[in-house]
Amino acid sequence: MKKRKTAEELRSHRWFGVSDLRSFSQRSRMKQMGLDMIDFAGKPIIAILNTWSGLAHCHAHFKNRVEDVKRGVLEAGGFPVEIPVMALPENFVKPTTMLYRNLLAMEAEESLRSLPIDGAVLMGGCDKTTPALVMGAISANLPAIFMPAGPMLRGNWRGKILGSGSDIWKFWDEKRAGEISDADWSEMEAGIARSDGVCMTMGTAMTMTSLTEVLGLSLPGASSIPAPDANHRRMAAECGRRAVDLVWEDLKPSDILTSTSFDNAIVTSAALAGSTNAIIHLIAMARRANIPLELERFDALSRDIPVIADIRPSGKYLMEDFYYAGGLQALLTRISDRLDLSQKNVLGGTLGDALQDQTVYNDDVIRTVQNPVSSAEGLAVLRGNLAPGGCVMKPSAADPRLHKHCGPALVFANYNEMAAEIDREDLDVTPDHVIVLQNAGPKGGPGMPEWGMLPIPTKLVRQGVRDMVRISDSRMSGTSYGACILHVAPESFIGGPLALVRNGDLIEIDVPARSIRLVVSDEELEERKAEWTPPERIYPRGYGAMFSAHIGQADSGCDLDFLQAPGTVPEPEIH
Ligand code: FES
Repeated sequence: MKKRKTAEELRSHRWFGVSDLRSFSQRSRMKQMGLDMIDFAGKPIIAILNTWSGLAHCHAHFKNRVEDVKRGVLEAGGFPVEIPVMALPENFVKPTTMLYRNLLAMEAEESLRSLPIDGAVLMGGCDKTTPALVMGAISANLPAIFMPAGPMLRGNWRGKILGSGSDIWKFWDEKRAGEISDADWSEMEAGIARSDGVCMTMGTAMTMTSLTEVLGLSLPGASSIPAPDANHRRMAAECGRRAVDLVWEDLKPSDILTSTSFDNAIVTSAALAGSTNAIIHLIAMARRANIPLELERFDALSRDIPVIADIRPSGKYLMEDFYYAGGLQALLTRISDRLDLSQKNVLGGTLGDALQDQTVYNDDVIRTVQNPVSSAEGLAVLRGNLAPGGCVMKPSAADPRLHKHCGPALVFANYNEMAAEIDREDLDVTPDHVIVLQNAGPKGGPGMPEWGMLPIPTKLVRQGVRDMVRISDSRMSGTSYGACILHVAPESFIGGPLALVRNGDLIEIDVPARSIRLVVSDEELEERKAEWTPPERIYPRGYGAMFSAHIGQADSGCDLDFLQAPGTVPEPEIH
């Protein structure tokens, strides 16, 4: 057990506790803000990294919720400082928030490193904000606790329950088929997101906040609390209080994260039927912690874990129901024999300690392993000549008849081409076709947008077709569903085999065998490769150009190469 820090050992002491010219000016500038030594000197200074902005739809409550965190910090004898960081609202950022995940991670890391900060509360939740803040905190390696935004309440439309994302896709298809009117559609807009909080399905946001809790970086039970619930405010204050103690105890992410804690997260993701985006984010987070994590680990650990959370898009309930059924900690009791309960958390205890006295209150929402929502696996990693670096799919969210399929390719060279063609009545396509989208990966998108749930051609939608095999090097929203094969690596933009597929080529997928094959001879593929010319660079300058030059492929977590470099960045000098 580590000994508690003294006030002189606080990191902020180097700014405010010494007697020299520089610290004179630093103290005087705190006094410029109306503060006195009694406010901040000798106390843990807790940075509250707040991803609020006037456009951060899922974090609208953070503007006030930060006051609860501050209250907790003050109660525990710390000094809170709110630091606004990039917000990344999923629905507004173009072309995709994934382009900026690493930028927020850099901002979080450098804010923590460069300022007089002893510990941090990370306020995030909307998709990329969670991995970004956690990646930054891992690299900075100061004591930190993640405060999840919490899910929205259930959506409502004329008494029908609506789920974020999942129901939009479903009703959009109905609208395209002429079964939903413009007026119905417009009414749904006002009912599908009717409170503060993140998407209340098991999309990327809820997957990542749940897994961050399993990794031990949030308070046990925190991720499942709906944003408008008073318990969320109480949890926020507790995050503030606990952050102060984390500093005195010097409990850092490197003391909590292990390869086994990542295994626990992968197992939990499978039981939740979590978003495929979690694969990319967990790999990136693990590698920041110097923990090697490969795609195969996800496949191996997910194979015999049934989906027991009956939450959309794989199930029928929403996060509000999940919370009332006991929430994440209750679910973990159902898979406790598959978890390593000795893993540490931000309380300084273990996962096993946290699971004491947890109860499932509704067996229909949180099933038993013997009575799962689906016996189909929540995740499969496929490899073959079309994806030598691997690709992923979510069998539980796909029509089971498509788990083994062979059909001719219908290829679109980019998203705009697909969007222009997909509604054409004379499109030469059948339900057996395999739709292929190229140039939608980390460099090609760029930023690997969530285009992977490629639309089913309108003429087939009218015939009642609701699922087809679709392949791309892009990602898919965690609230999406269907036989969508994603994250193909290496991507087509850099000449991966996906770039060589032509209309009519047969593509064979076999999920039980974990294979994906382009039925074209090696010689023919070699010839096509020799003829292939790289597409033009998309960003001539700016962050996009830097991103394109340094971004890694999906199977390595899409981090920037210079952020993954081994070694520790030195602490700022005193002067
Ligand atoms: Fe923010 Fe879904 S849009 S979590």
